[in-house]
Amino acid sequence: MKIAISGKGGVGKTTIMAMLAKYLQKQGKEVLVIDADPSPHMAQSLGLAEDEKITPIAEMKDLLVERSGKVDGSPFYNINPQVDDLLSRFIVEKDGIKLMVLGAIQTAKGGCACPESNVLKRMLTKLLLAPSQVVLLDMEAGVEHLGRGTIAGVDQLLIVVIPSKSGVRTALKIKKLAEESGIPRISYVGNLVADDDDRAFLAEALGEPPLACFPDSAAIRKTERAGLAITGALGEVEEAAGQLINSILAQAKQ
Ligand SMILES: Nc1ncnc2c1ncn2[C@@H]1O[C@H](COP(=O)(O)OP(=O)(O)O)[C@@H](O)[C@H]1O
Ligand SMILES: [Mg+2]
Repeated sequence: MKIAISGKGGVGKTTIMAMLAKYLQKQGKEVLVIDADPSPHMAQSLGLAEDEKITPIAEMKDLLVERSGKVDGSPFYNINPQVDDLLSRFIVEKDGIKLMVLGAIQTAKGGCACPESNVLKRMLTKLLLAPSQVVLLDMEAGVEHLGRGTIAGVDQLLIVVIPSKSGVRTALKIKKLAEESGIPRISYVGNLVADDDDRAFLAEALGEPPLACFPDSAAIRKTERAGLAITGALGEVEEAAGQLINSILAQAKQ
């Protein structure tokens, strides 16, 4: 199962992904989180200390260029670079959750046929194919930057939305864009949802109820401010996390 998350900046994508990672890990799943946000933040959310700072793979230009090296006598780059050894080299583990940080990926779509982006995409595609794992892909707002080939490996896209008019407007826009990506299932997840009124507003404005709604949690804020792993506050939102996972699994079976 591969789940990606999207939504406007600051709506809680990384927070919700970190909570899902912890929830699934507690359930005995093998969890791999991929941080594909150009300003990666997941390591902190999972409680990796500053001195365990991870260099995003995208910043290891030398290695990426070496891997995508020119094929002898040809002006073209190797489109099938070996990446298997890189996969394990760039994964760190914290409390049973594996993390890989990609950094800024330049895609061919943006006019860049960079050989490095080829290596990154290949790594991502390989990872997205591992059957025994739950892969959680944390991203910036949209799905466009990953490129069609990569995102097509995702089973479910979650769009995080907060109960405000502008929040809904952005979420609807993201959904429209995401529908072109070829991801089979796209659903909404509410965040900072206080009461039934908020729930009703979201269901009405989105045209469907979110799969689950996360409450605004003072404990999450405090944990984040203290620089601790926010997964420590899972208890505060465990019900929503459980509901979200169950809904995703139910949808996958349909
Ligand atoms: N349900 C919540 N309750 C309290 N604070 C939250 C909640 N969700 C997110 N936050 C806080 O909001 C801020 C932005 O969340 P983050 O997950 O980093 O957003 P994104 O990844 O979408 O940019 C963080 O400081 C986070 O701690
Ligand atoms: Mg984030």
